[in-house]
Amino acid sequence: MFIRHETLEKNAFYLLVAALVTVAIGGLVEIVPQFFIENTIEKVKGVRPYSPLELAGRNIYIREGCYLCHSQQIRALRDEVERYGHYSLAAESMYDHPFQWGSKRIGPDLARVGGKYSNDWHYAHLRNPQSVVPESLMPRYAFLEETPLSYERIAEDLRTNRAVGVPYTDEDIANARADLEAQADANANHDALLKRYPKAVIVPAIGHTITEMDALIAYLQVLGTMVNFADTSEEQLQR
Ligand code: HEC
Repeated sequence: MFIRHETLEKNAFYLLVAALVTVAIGGLVEIVPQFFIENTIEKVKGVRPYSPLELAGRNIYIREGCYLCHSQQIRALRDEVERYGHYSLAAESMYDHPFQWGSKRIGPDLARVGGKYSNDWHYAHLRNPQSVVPESLMPRYAFLEETPLSYERIAEDLRTNRAVGVPYTDEDIANARADLEAQADANANHDALLKRYPKAVIVPAIGHTITEMDALIAYLQVLGTMVNFADTSEEQLQR
């Protein structure tokens, strides 16, 4: 046994082949099972795809690079949980393409900012952060309020997300435009919207046209609110 091993160690070619075989076995053990399991993310009750207005807002969030200062990932550490709430579950970002976990926290984590403030607070804060948080160094985004939201392609956006695995139905896609407009209109009938997208927060467009700021706020208001942690135990969360 040891003598054979010596031959292996003294011959660069054999050693290389043996090393490759060993590494290949390790690789296969890691990779092959991935093709046979349906999903690596546990499903959690309440997690749903974004509503069209939220999705449009999310696009603005990405375009403006909010992730450069804000993470969306509460770690399972005591100080984080005490400050931000329940640690983030993998399922909570399962419909995020691309995910917005971020790697910098110049500002606070936003994974559970939904419902923390009123829509009005967000309007004031985005217009001029220092008006509500005097020591803030966040830049002003007032221009978003003057920029009409371009949503002619919102149905295509849903369809694209479906292509990468978000379970939007044909009905969701057909109603994308109507749902977007309903979420931005306080006087619209919201039944169909809320049936498709429970807990969607209505962000009434101030003025006439729906602006990029309205969409961004709809997105911020849903962050971290889909899963009900208050009356569900850890085991019940799993479907
Ligand atoms: C240069 C870094 C920076 C950028 C870029 C930035 N922020 Fe902030 N943000 C901050 C800081 C710092 C705070 C904390 C002070 C405050 O509340 O204004 C903050 C606070 C916030 C809060 C309040 C969070 C809380 O829990 O109190 C929200 C919401 C927010 N930002 C959203 C956004 C959005 C949306 C964008 C992109 C349009 C954005 N931020 C871009 C730095 C930034």
